[in-house]
Amino acid sequence: MTHWKTLSEQHDLAAERRISDLFDDPKRAQAFATQTGDMYFDYSKTNIDPQTRETLLALARDSDIESKREAMFSGVHINETEDRAVLHTALRNLDGGPVMVDGVDVMPAVLDTLAAMRTFATKVRSGTYTDVVNIGIGGSDLGPAMAVRALSPYQDGPRCHFVSNVDGADIADTLRVLDAKTTLVIVASKTFTTIETMTNARTARAWMLDHGGDPKVQFAALSTSEEKTAEFGINPAHVFGFEDWVGGRYSVWGPIGLSLMIAIGPKAFDAFLRGAQAMDTHFRAAELHENMPVLLALVGIWHNQICGNATRAVLPYDERLGLLPSYLQQLEMESNGKGVQRDGADSPRNTGPVVWGAAGTNGQHAFYQLIHQGTRVIPCEFLLAAQGHEAELAHHHQLLVSNCLAQSKALMLGRSLEEARKIAADKGFSGDDLERQARHRVFPGNRPSTTLLYPQLDPFTLGQIIALYEHRVFVEGVILDIISFDQWGVELGKELATSLQPVVEGTRDASNEDASTATLVDFIHRHRD
Ligand code: F6P
Repeated sequence: MTHWKTLSEQHDLAAERRISDLFDDPKRAQAFATQTGDMYFDYSKTNIDPQTRETLLALARDSDIESKREAMFSGVHINETEDRAVLHTALRNLDGGPVMVDGVDVMPAVLDTLAAMRTFATKVRSGTYTDVVNIGIGGSDLGPAMAVRALSPYQDGPRCHFVSNVDGADIADTLRVLDAKTTLVIVASKTFTTIETMTNARTARAWMLDHGGDPKVQFAALSTSEEKTAEFGINPAHVFGFEDWVGGRYSVWGPIGLSLMIAIGPKAFDAFLRGAQAMDTHFRAAELHENMPVLLALVGIWHNQICGNATRAVLPYDERLGLLPSYLQQLEMESNGKGVQRDGADSPRNTGPVVWGAAGTNGQHAFYQLIHQGTRVIPCEFLLAAQGHEAELAHHHQLLVSNCLAQSKALMLGRSLEEARKIAADKGFSGDDLERQARHRVFPGNRPSTTLLYPQLDPFTLGQIIALYEHRVFVEGVILDIISFDQWGVELGKELATSLQPVVEGTRDASNEDASTATLVDFIHRHRD
């Protein structure tokens, strides 16, 4: 019998069981948790029992996680459709040995680029720059934007702004308040061809020229293409290159992280890399049953592929992690949102889940209603620091912690009809009215969640968190037998946008378009000046 079949049977057997019943085992809270360094991952509030965990671990083992993990770390071309190695881990391999790609040790070049970034960042931080604008999209935006916000207590460099959308509103609103003479523009694009980024970069260059700045001095580029950055006219001394074995959504650790390094300084950036490196070491060495990324992935597989929960919510009780859900949306959905397996055959099961979320406590006053009482089960992933940075506002943090813990508890325990009746009776309801009112106050409970705890959101911890999720995506991809490192699904829309451009501009008629598109274009043409 395959592990998938066993898991599905175990799921059927667990149908009537409540998560809270699993706590009849007095050791459950400790037994269904793991720790690495100061980071603690609790998955006890899920309906995974010891037998199910064994099956999940067997599934991981039989999917060859261990050898595939080594293949990734050692530069094998595991991104098979693009014939590339996958080595974002080399960017944070600060104390590690050589990393070979096609017979060449890539570490000297990685460390040289890092040293050049440090020199440049130090110069920018100590110069006359007041602002930095990072122009990029997807992985060339979300990583640094998320991390700069997450680490704002460590920011002692110029202000950082992020422009990504091709919607002119984005760049217009950003540049309007800046001084072109004291602004550094960083064009972040792995390919240096992305239409949004190149359009915004040209607009920023024109703005700088019009407002007395000097793009030759005040532009930098982060890219794998030296040729294209030169064509754009970027001073080669301001170009920080990387290789095609760094995927866009995995690129914050190298040159794409330059704005972060400028914001928090090279030393704090090093701590960020070291946090990720610590997670790499743990992922590579820990036994599967205590391996945090593996366990996080197995919980994901259980909920998505076995229980059929199509989405998962990422709920950081950490305001500064407000962009983490968007960051993880790209990381997880671009990596594992695939319909075919490695050999091209259709996947026999659902692949990556829909990832969404927002910072707590805000979400509590918006969408938690559905999480608690809606008809769909949404596994929740809480993240929480033991302490905040605002020592003088410690009471805020205690409220934040209480709210986070209360949510996972409420999701698990719920509120029975009996309890709800008592509440309704206390409010003065009686008879049929009491029954009706009570039913609206029932919480089904038995809704799963995990909680990731850490002492404080510092650069090291943020590095750990991101690397944890990166490896989780890798493990899920291996178990699902899909290629997590390409992204062909973004291509069709890009191609069609290019071919639609003349139709939208009005230089080609819409007669070759489908009727819906032609009608939409017609409306747009009739309603613009
Ligand atoms: O469209 C998807 C994508 O290729 C992402 O994978 C990538 O992070 C983003 O576009 C930006 O690409 P680039 O860094 O080459 O501009």
